[in-house]
Amino acid sequence: MHFSIISVVPELLESPLGHSVIRRARDWGLLEIECIDLRTFGLGAYRQVDDYPYGGGAGMVLMAEPLVNCIEALKSKRSYDLVIYLTPDGERFDQHMANRLSLQHNLMLICGHYKGIDQRVRDHWVNLEVSIGDYVLSGGEIAACALVDAVGRLIPGVLNDETSALSDSFQDGLLAPPVYTRPAEFQGLPVPDILLSGHQVRIEDWRHEQALQRTTERRPDILRD
Ligand code: ADE
Repeated sequence: MHFSIISVVPELLESPLGHSVIRRARDWGLLEIECIDLRTFGLGAYRQVDDYPYGGGAGMVLMAEPLVNCIEALKSKRSYDLVIYLTPDGERFDQHMANRLSLQHNLMLICGHYKGIDQRVRDHWVNLEVSIGDYVLSGGEIAACALVDAVGRLIPGVLNDETSALSDSFQDGLLAPPVYTRPAEFQGLPVPDILLSGHQVRIEDWRHEQALQRTTERRPDILRD
């Protein structure tokens, strides 16, 4: 799977996408991530990428021309399934969307900054607008990293049996149950007996009950869905 990520601060993408599971997926050739500095498509001697909003108001807007030149340059090299713009007013990202996106081959992500990007780019070049939650980040980079991480780990072969995504929260419509590791007692706090019993079927039943209880208490909205 290939991601092309357009950003005015590509440095923000480096660490989250350069370690752990995503790093391994890249090393194994299961995932390609290309980060493009929008400024290389900037206009004039100062490589301008943003300008004041028409009609006035605070903040700057990423200009259409550098963005479209960048999008078209990328499109001339590969065919993209989707061009995604990360924005707080987009469709809410969740595990269902991550599953859906993990079936694609080539995704282009556009990270906004300042007050966002020129609406004409959204209207004519973007196919999907995605928000990672109802709060405003300083730019789309952290949202892009969250999306790439959540989608990247679903690519077959990225996770092994031990870390399988099948037992993740949300994957079966429930939050994940509690987990414990050694020692069996820590500062007088014991691990639930059932987990030490060796009865795999009963352990799975217990985990399911715990997952259900946790979901009922914390996220009744998912149970209703
Ligand atoms: N850019 C700024 N805030 C964002 C959010 N919540 N989701 C996606 N992109 C964003």
